[in-house]
Amino acid sequence: MAKMWDARFSKVENKRVNDFNSSISFDSRMFREDIEGSIAHATMLGKKGIISADDSEKIVTALRQIRSDIEDGTLPIDPEAEDIHMFVEEVLTKRIGDAGKRLHTARSRNDQVALDIRLYLKKEIGEIRELVLNLLSVIAKTAEENKDAVMPGYTHLQRAQPVTFGHYMLAYAQMFIRDDLRLKQTLERTAISPLGSGALASTTYPIDRQMVAELLGLDGVTENSMDGVSDRDFLLELAFDLSVIMMHLSRFSEEIILWCSSEFSFIDLDDAFSTGSSIMPQKKNPDIAELVRGKTGRVYGDLTTVLTMMKGIPLAYNKDMQEDKEAIFDAIDNAKLCLELFASMLDTLTVKRDNLRKSASGGFINATDCADYLVGKGLPFRDAYRVSGRLVAYCIENKTDIESLDLDTYRQFSPLFDEGVYDAVNLDNCVNRRTVYGGPSIESVERQIGIVKSYIQLQA
Ligand code: ARG
Repeated sequence: MAKMWDARFSKVENKRVNDFNSSISFDSRMFREDIEGSIAHATMLGKKGIISADDSEKIVTALRQIRSDIEDGTLPIDPEAEDIHMFVEEVLTKRIGDAGKRLHTARSRNDQVALDIRLYLKKEIGEIRELVLNLLSVIAKTAEENKDAVMPGYTHLQRAQPVTFGHYMLAYAQMFIRDDLRLKQTLERTAISPLGSGALASTTYPIDRQMVAELLGLDGVTENSMDGVSDRDFLLELAFDLSVIMMHLSRFSEEIILWCSSEFSFIDLDDAFSTGSSIMPQKKNPDIAELVRGKTGRVYGDLTTVLTMMKGIPLAYNKDMQEDKEAIFDAIDNAKLCLELFASMLDTLTVKRDNLRKSASGGFINATDCADYLVGKGLPFRDAYRVSGRLVAYCIENKTDIESLDLDTYRQFSPLFDEGVYDAVNLDNCVNRRTVYGGPSIESVERQIGIVKSYIQLQA
């Protein structure tokens, strides 16, 4: 196909070169943003008298028609086109002739593509935030249902101190709240219009950049025309935000995978979120969680791709930057899928509260509380710690646990023990005495649930 820019060329482009150069196979997903940007640009050109009001109207009407024709499939996207910007402009010119040829006045594809990707990411950030907020509400619900389900908390994957399943869930809620805040901040730096930067040195036409930004619902215009066409920081930021989201989902997935093993047996996944084995009839595999964990590497790869792609390119636009799209689209698509499926998986799993409690009883996770009890009786913490440690050793030797010892046995280790020790090492009490702000007690967990819920409401 003849190129719009072929006037200065004497040879037709080689087919392989054309394919190599083309981005239509992946940037056509921005057709709405491309058209929206062109409508705003044409409207401004008309209002400023740079093109006639009549031409401006013709362009806008035809662009709207092109958009609906692409949407309903009557206008198939030409895979031979160089990119979505050229495709739309070519169709426009075919349909309305000279008026169509006036659209690109005071504009370059460099500021056009910078605008399109910003508009596209703005839309996606909105959708990703909705998925994060949905996940947060599933977490809050699961926490509410399990705010008193005592379980062991771990360090080094060794049983450490008692918490509740609710408290555990709310730790993840905090991570996803920060993720959402990051997205919100990235959006602020994304929703800025670079249009008017031209190829790199802006334009001599009396354009109104602010008007275009307002028409597009953007919050401002970029300050420097060279930066306007060269900046992809906002895209890198989103790739980073998505990498952190994936890292959080991956840690959470790792817990799910461990918890549904027979060794832990803390939860049961809904059948719809597990798969069987082709050879072992007994198997129920946590594939969804594993895939989320696996796709995390892929999203990190996308971040590395765009960071590396940007690091050596001089100002201003260079074709390298066309490579930003496949990477960020891949990161977006995969993170969205993971957020959606992970939330449904969490929503449908069963918590085996009895097993959580059994596991909490078995690991001396109240040994710190036993020491704290002696501290309450006046013993310095380091001494109390030793007594409690010797008690644990005794229990291991005698295959019992701290809460099952009789008072005489306790007294062999310290005369300070009395009946009150049973209250002190009772697992529920161990949790519920931790009323410190941010702790695992029921009242603290209820407050945390309130914080998550009001965060969700404030964003909606
Ligand atoms: N397809 C190109 C991209 O995605 C559009 C910008 C082309 N600009 C240029 N000067 N060739 O980056």
